[in-house]
Amino acid sequence: MEARRDGLVGVFQTIAGQHGEVASLIDRVKADPRKREALWPRIRVSLLAHEKAELKVVYPVLGRYSELDQHVTQHAQEAQQLEDVITRLDAMTLQGEDWMTLFESLAELVVSHANEEENEIFPASINAIGQDRAKDLDDKFKASFKDFKSAYEKVTH
Ligand SMILES: [Fe+2]
Ligand SMILES: [Fe+2]
Repeated sequence: MEARRDGLVGVFQTIAGQHGEVASLIDRVKADPRKREALWPRIRVSLLAHEKAELKVVYPVLGRYSELDQHVTQHAQEAQQLEDVITRLDAMTLQGEDWMTLFESLAELVVSHANEEENEIFPASINAIGQDRAKDLDDKFKASFKDFKSAYEKVTH
């Protein structure tokens, strides 16, 4: 995934790094669909925990700035859409061809969602909230991500 990460600081840099990690896992499955059984549990947990932590820690702060309103609303819709596709994939037979087709759609959604955040939402957010606040949010985001991740891992094992 091509992403412009220059200029992203604090929590936004952490988030962009997570986008890169999950995108490379997704690419590995696309390159070799046999890897899906090993990698899907990690991909789904990473994606779900990532969006939940964004929604809990980051977007409520952005929502206090009227110039970010539209971004916050659109983000919530896209996060829901991602979760819906993940739920559908979980309900399907992992070995089937249909699963792989839907996985490719998820991959496209993830890439476009991440690019939108990194190239549009986050630069506008740093302008609005300032670099110091972006740095302050970093630890809180990381802690929240960890919490959601272990909660999702418990459910799958
Ligand atoms: Fe997001
Ligand atoms: Fe994100």
